[in-house]
Amino acid sequence: MPTIVQQRRSRAVRLSDLVSALSYALDLTEGQPLGHAQRTCIFGIRLAQAIGMPEQEQADLYYALLLKDSGCSSNAARMYQILGSDEIRARHDVKLIDWRSVNWSTLVYSLRHVQVGRPAWERLLALSQVAWQRHRQQKEVVEIRCERGAAIARKMGFPQRTAEAIRGLDEHWDGGGYPLGLQGTEIPLSARILSLAQTLEVFHRHSGMPAALQVARARSGRWFDPELVRAAHAIAQQDSLDNELSYAAQTVARLSPSEGAVTAGRERVDVICDGFADVVDAKSPYTSDHSKRVTEVAVGMAEHMGLEKPTVTLIRRAALLHDLGKLSVPNSILEKPAPLTSEEWAVVRRHPFHSEAILKRIQGFEQIAIIAGAHHERLDGTGYFRGLHANQLSMPARVLAVADVFDALSAKRPYREAIPLDEVFSIMRRDAPHALDGRCVEVLVESQRRARPSPAPEGLAMLQRAMSTHRGVA
Ligand SMILES: [Fe+2]
Ligand SMILES: [Fe+2]
Repeated sequence: MPTIVQQRRSRAVRLSDLVSALSYALDLTEGQPLGHAQRTCIFGIRLAQAIGMPEQEQADLYYALLLKDSGCSSNAARMYQILGSDEIRARHDVKLIDWRSVNWSTLVYSLRHVQVGRPAWERLLALSQVAWQRHRQQKEVVEIRCERGAAIARKMGFPQRTAEAIRGLDEHWDGGGYPLGLQGTEIPLSARILSLAQTLEVFHRHSGMPAALQVARARSGRWFDPELVRAAHAIAQQDSLDNELSYAAQTVARLSPSEGAVTAGRERVDVICDGFADVVDAKSPYTSDHSKRVTEVAVGMAEHMGLEKPTVTLIRRAALLHDLGKLSVPNSILEKPAPLTSEEWAVVRRHPFHSEAILKRIQGFEQIAIIAGAHHERLDGTGYFRGLHANQLSMPARVLAVADVFDALSAKRPYREAIPLDEVFSIMRRDAPHALDGRCVEVLVESQRRARPSPAPEGLAMLQRAMSTHRGVA
C-alpha cells in the first residue's frame, strides 16, 4: 500500500497560469490543437495594445480570450442532435469557412458533417432540414454557448466586461451575427477583438499570416470592425510575433495582467476548479452534475476516513477536474445508443490521459494530475489508461475511483432510473478488494447510508439494464 499523498502546504498557483493551462480543456471541446486559446490571447492582447486599450480593460480581455470557449460544451449535445455526427470535428471545420454565406464551402461542410455514415435518403432529409432551419439553429447553438460561457466566467469571479466579451464572441460588425444581431459599436470592443483574434489564430496556423490577413480583410466591415483589421495589419509587422506564438504558454504568462501575476487564494482556485467542473458536466445530459456529485462523495469519504485537510483538498480538486479529458470525446460517442466500436472505445479510454496531461501543466497541481489521471485504474491492473496496479495507486486515487464508480451506478440518467443503493453497494462489493479498494468501498457504504435514506428495493431488471448501458466512461 503506497503512502497517502501528503501535501502539508499547497504550492502557490498563479491565477493566470491556472486559467491559461485549463484553456487547453476548452481547445479539446473545440477540436482545436492545444494552445489555440493561448495563441488567440496573444493576438487579442496585441490588437488591444495596438489600439491603445486601457490597461484594466486589457486585463479583463486577457481572461475573456482564454475562456472564450467555456460555453462550448453546453451546446455539444444540441449540435450532435442537429448534425447526427462528430460535433467536435464539425466545430473544428466551421472555423475555416464563412458559415454565414451559402456557397460551395458551406455545402462541402454540410456534406462532411451531417449524418455521416447514414443511408443516402436519411442524409438528404437531414441536409434539407439543416438548410431550411439554418438561421434558427445557428442562433440557438450560438446563444446557448455564449450565454453559458458568460455565466461560467462570472461564476469564476471574472468581471462583467470579461463575461460580456464572451457573450458577444459571435456578433458581427454588420449585425449579421448571433445571438442578438448587434451592430458596429453596439458590440462590446472586447467581443470584437475576441472574434477577430480567434480567426487570425486559426488561419495563421493553417496557412500563415498573409492568409490570415486576407481573411480579415475579406470580412472587414461584415464580420470584423475595420479599425481592428487595420490594427491586425500593424501587429503582423512586428518581428517578435511569430516567436511569441511559437512559445505561446510562456508568452501568455508574460502578458498576464498584474492581478494574474499574484498567487490565487485557495478559495479562488476552488472557484475556478468548480467552474471547469461545470464545463465538463455540461457536455452531455447523460453525465450532468457527475463531477459535482463525485466530488461530494469523494470528499465525504476522505473526511470519514480522517484524511488530513491538505489531502482532502487534493481529492476535492482532482474530483472536480477528473473528467476534463472527456471534453475530447465527441457526443456521438458519449450518447451513442449502440455498443461502441473498438476505435470509439480507444477514444473513450484516452480521456483520463487528457485530464492528467492538462492538469500536469499547472504548477502546484502535479499530485492532482496524477490522482485525476488514475480515476479509471483498477487495483488488479484491468483499468485504464495505464493499467496501473495496487502498489502504484495512492489512497486519494482509490477514493476517487470508488466515488466515480458509485456515481456512475447510482445517478439517475436520462435512459434509466437511479439504481437502489443496496444494489449499487452489492455490485461494488463484488469488485472489491481485487479491483476497487475494499476499505474505500466500506467507507463509501457507511458514509452514504448515513447521508441518504435507503430507497425501496426495485427489481433486478433495472440493475441489469443499468449495467448494460454503463460503459465505464464516468
Ligand atoms: Fe472518467
Ligand atoms: Fe467520472
